[in-house]
Amino acid sequence: MTDQKNIIRSVGAYLPARVMTNDDLAKLVDTSDEWIQQRTGIKQRHIAAEGENTSDLAAAAGHKALENAGLEIADVDLIVVATTTPDMTFPATAAVVQQKLGMHHGAAFDIQAVCSGFVYAVATADSYLKNGLAKRALVIGAETASRILDWNDRTTCVLFGDGAGAVIMEPAKPGEDRGVLATALRSDGQHWNKLYTDGGPSSTQSMGHIRMEGKEVFKHAVGMITDVVYKVLEDTGHTIDDLDWFVPHQANKRIIDGAGQKLGLPPEKVVVTVDRHANTSAASVPLALNTAVADGRIKRGDLVMIEAMGGGFTWGASLIRW
Ligand code: UT7
Repeated sequence: MTDQKNIIRSVGAYLPARVMTNDDLAKLVDTSDEWIQQRTGIKQRHIAAEGENTSDLAAAAGHKALENAGLEIADVDLIVVATTTPDMTFPATAAVVQQKLGMHHGAAFDIQAVCSGFVYAVATADSYLKNGLAKRALVIGAETASRILDWNDRTTCVLFGDGAGAVIMEPAKPGEDRGVLATALRSDGQHWNKLYTDGGPSSTQSMGHIRMEGKEVFKHAVGMITDVVYKVLEDTGHTIDDLDWFVPHQANKRIIDGAGQKLGLPPEKVVVTVDRHANTSAASVPLALNTAVADGRIKRGDLVMIEAMGGGFTWGASLIRW
């Protein structure tokens, strides 16, 4: 492993056209806009169209990231897709994305770490680039969570949405002191049955629906998130005050606020998109990054902390000099 740093060169995103509001949901289950906003901060979510698959969302976000970098797919030799909602049990959605983007060289595979998938994928691509296994990576978080929701279960169907975000990662140029500075990844499988699907190829030969003990997830979330954030800060000799932007996984505004308060972060440094996107699982962090880059908040040289926590439980954080 070298001490080469790998930068995020560009970001891209894609959201399906259809917007579903809380009032739309209140027509399906016994809920209300007031309850959803008060408990989660969510106002709306995007829902993929019939026939629009995770690979379509991922390819569209990937295409945007390439365009924003001024690159062609030929310039990339690794595609990593973080997803919990693959098009098929196999092949990897990354292989389908590879076909859709017209790439016939290099390598492509999926990462399954549920909501933490994008942080795991950034860490994986960073390691591949450091080890010389790839020269430039397209890292995507993409989900069609709407396909694995039980639309009769008000405790879960109000929380999730569909979307995709992508980044191009490549080695920093000589003398360029930026890129991924440190990452911490964690999981603890003793919690797997607090957030899971009640089916899968090996167990039920079906895909199952999301089941969650919301309170249990909530109880662990803030502590797990802050632990990895502190670890990454400690590993790099930085303090919370050095951060320009905190880009958390967008599951629930109350979890984001709780983590921000525990860390002592001013709210204006926290990027929030959960109100518009809901929880898009592995897509939430790159979608939030795209929002804050596109609106001019995140700029070259800024110190950016990304973090996520979700099913497994898995959790992780990464500190990036933009
Ligand atoms: O990426 C990680 C993925 N997951 C998460 O981050 C989720 C973490 N958990 C949460 O965000 C919260 O636990 C929820 C938003 C899921 C729930 O909020 P809560 O404050 O923990 O509510 P609760 O589960 O204690 O439910 C309170 C009440 C219950 O009614 P009773 O028993 O008090 O009469 C629920 O039945 O709210 C009821 N309820 C609803 N009411 C209206 C549950 N879901 C709904 C709903 N609309 N959609």
